[in-house]
Amino acid sequence: MKFFIDTANLAQIKEAEDLGVLDGVTTNPSLMAKEGIKGEANILKHYVDICNIVSGDVSAEVISTEFEGIKKEGEALASLHKQIVVKVPMIKDGVKALKYFSSKGIKTNCTLVFSAGQALLAAKAGATYVSPFIGRLDDVSTDGLDLIRDIRTIYDNYRYKTQILAASVRHPMHIINCAKLGADVATCPLSAITALLKHPLTDSGLAQFLADAKK
Ligand code: E4P
Repeated sequence: MKFFIDTANLAQIKEAEDLGVLDGVTTNPSLMAKEGIKGEANILKHYVDICNIVSGDVSAEVISTEFEGIKKEGEALASLHKQIVVKVPMIKDGVKALKYFSSKGIKTNCTLVFSAGQALLAAKAGATYVSPFIGRLDDVSTDGLDLIRDIRTIYDNYRYKTQILAASVRHPMHIINCAKLGADVATCPLSAITALLKHPLTDSGLAQFLADAKK
């Protein structure tokens, strides 16, 4: 399973990259705003800065909600750097844009996916990635992992190439369960990735080994 980091924070992206297990980055307008990145020129520069830290795919989200705007914005984003993946919302004009970008060889990430039907549409439109938001489903008392399972079944039934990018991941058990269910990618906060490292028996075992090594 690929690990993406879900942030626009350059220090956290660098920390995850330095760990040697990072395959890409996802951003969204809220994550960009959280880092105080404002104005078109600064936003575009920030995407390039991210691409210069990692070697994998970097999702950059469009703001437009109608086809012509999504197309123009997406083409501008894609021309920034070869690692850019155009992130498009799951709306009617977004589906049309996914099909258009697919025909032009531009990689896409269909975002804000909350149902298997939406994921099926994204795959039929040729999306490179589909982003089911599992944490936000959990937040409304619906098991987000059920959606990952359903999408995996549907994509396997028809051999769709669209990669399942589990998003809105909140903790290490989300990552582990997504891996068990066959998600292709999990995009996670740094805290969820580093939490995978932790086990109290590792800590106590290491402390014992180090103490014994001094004897
Ligand atoms: C990723 O592509 C999404 O933008 C992100 O995972 C959303 O996560 P959140 O529900 O924690 O905001």
